[in-house]
Amino acid sequence: MKKEKVLITSALPYANGSIHIGHLVEYIQTDIWVRFQKAIGNDCYYMCADDTHGTAVMLSAKEKGVAPEVLIESVNAEHQADFNGFGIDFDCYYSTHSPENQSLSEFIYQEAKEKGAISTQDVEQFFDEKEGIFLADRYVKGTCPYCQAEDQYGDACEKCFATYTPDDLINPFSTISGETPVKKTSEHYFFKLSQFEDVIVSWLDKGPVATDVRNKLKEWLDQGLKEWDISRDAPYFGFKIPDTEDKYFYVWLDAPVGYIATTQKWATEQGLSLDDIWRSGEFEIHHFIGKDILYFHTLFWPAMLHVGGFQAPTKVNVHGFLTVNGEKMSKSRGTFIQAKT
Ligand code: 2FM
Ligand code: ZN
Repeated sequence: MKKEKVLITSALPYANGSIHIGHLVEYIQTDIWVRFQKAIGNDCYYMCADDTHGTAVMLSAKEKGVAPEVLIESVNAEHQADFNGFGIDFDCYYSTHSPENQSLSEFIYQEAKEKGAISTQDVEQFFDEKEGIFLADRYVKGTCPYCQAEDQYGDACEKCFATYTPDDLINPFSTISGETPVKKTSEHYFFKLSQFEDVIVSWLDKGPVATDVRNKLKEWLDQGLKEWDISRDAPYFGFKIPDTEDKYFYVWLDAPVGYIATTQKWATEQGLSLDDIWRSGEFEIHHFIGKDILYFHTLFWPAMLHVGGFQAPTKVNVHGFLTVNGEKMSKSRGTFIQAKT
């Protein structure tokens, strides 16, 4: 029987929290599939890494009084110990805060720029003057404009389920300093996703996703692909965008590139070439993800891979969420269970 070559990934867990049983739904099912591939004699490699960048990691390090680099190193060790405890056997477990990931992310960005797929636009956002930081929607809270419930996030009300923007909140405040935020404009970098609609559709036509997932994607494609905001202003823990002073790649730009960067780290150690794996077409590439990150893996990601001359995934395997007593795990209800527990 012909040996197949298979590269497999699970989603990269954030470096701002512990591995919980919801994560394990994914890592265990992927590990089973990896073991099956190896058992039938295929050349199969399982790659994963910590997803280390973004505001949450930066703030959590600040709160603990350590540098983000120190925090992500200790979380990486904790995550690996949890995975070992469950017998999840990665061929390589790395970090998105790596030189390989920085240079691959910059490479994909530069290629996109050369193809005319990067634009800039001014974006107005809430800004916390005390902390000197732009506030993403979940860092702004206030009173719901519809039902007057207090302490609601900037995007949706948990009491009446209305959705809105932070602008609509009554008495908005920063969840970081508690101060009233001001409006401030800055230049952001965008990836012109619509330029790759044909690439995405012809990839989807090859059948990389299940029918229900394909139907969901059809809805998004019918709504039209929007430009993707790939920059965040300093202070931000991540990779600086080349030729800028204070702009960083949004964490979701460099996170999936971490799949390739981890492969590169491992391939180098094995005396193999990255191109033989990600550019030769000899390998099947399978991602395992949860349904919440479908948009990133089936719209942005194939476009980014195309831009960088890398192979598109053979399959994106999508699972739902683990529930406890039919509900989302919740810290307050005591149903949030860590892997090590
Ligand atoms: O949703 C998450 O937990 C992300 N950290 C997954 C990243 S997967 C990949 F794209 F890096
Ligand atoms: Zn409300």
